[in-house]
Amino acid sequence: MSEITYGSYLALDELLKLQRPQSEPEHPDELLFIVVHQSSELWFKAILHDIDGLIAALEAREAGQALWRIQRVNALMRIVSAQLSSLETLPPQHFAQFRTYLGSSSGSQSVQFRAIEAASGLRDEHFMRALEEHGDVPELVQRALSRPTLQELFLELLRSSNVTLEDLYLGPGPSLLFFLAEALLEYEQQFGQWRFTHVQLVERVIGPSTGGTGGTLGSRYLLKTIDQKFFPDLWAVRGKFFGKRR
Ligand code: HEM
Repeated sequence: MSEITYGSYLALDELLKLQRPQSEPEHPDELLFIVVHQSSELWFKAILHDIDGLIAALEAREAGQALWRIQRVNALMRIVSAQLSSLETLPPQHFAQFRTYLGSSSGSQSVQFRAIEAASGLRDEHFMRALEEHGDVPELVQRALSRPTLQELFLELLRSSNVTLEDLYLGPGPSLLFFLAEALLEYEQQFGQWRFTHVQLVERVIGPSTGGTGGTLGSRYLLKTIDQKFFPDLWAVRGKFFGKRR
């Protein structure tokens, strides 16, 4: 067997050949555009892997393991958002020079992104419509949709521990389950942060009124997705400490 080297272990020969700018002559900014998308997909792969681990921990009622997994997912989400800022250096007039070479390809066709949303708990009408827009729902997404949502799994864990969501916030003091609830909420915040950073990037590069290559209204469509929630009950429980507005 040949010796494992840095290059062979990471399959760098293959990996570094996978950036294939389409513009002719090649636009100097297209490489960064591809690298940020490809690396986002690699992080999505790692996030899906850890969400699988999170689901397994919640199903096994192992709160400590679940907390560890979601904290890692949160660290990965921060990285995915941070990379978007590199594309803020893409001037609109440069993007306009190679955008036509993208054809109808669009981030809205990202199967892994949809699988993360589905595994996390989106089931609303807007989401289901977005899924069906690109033909048959891919297997990875179908698998995620067939499992309980993260919120359902977390509430089940609470039930099995004879604790309600309210107990976590009214109880004698912060417990492991309380920290897990807060870390899940942090995940929702990090995901929303990605959506917000992305929509700002979109407005910065193509403006607020330009349609997307995927056929949507562009930033006007994306702004609507910011309201989608994975953990409505975790948000709602906070309101119990405050009177209703008259
Ligand atoms: C110059 C940079 C970017 C621009 C102008 C841009 C533009 C857009 C637009 C207009 C949409 C709406 C769908 C459409 O009609 O195409 C969209 C969706 C999306 N983009 Fe980007 N994008 C950029 C960078 C990125 C990057 C780096 C990623 C990382 C993977 C990404 C991932 C996505 C995803 C996942 C969606 C679907 C969002 C949803 O439906 O909630 N985009 N993008």
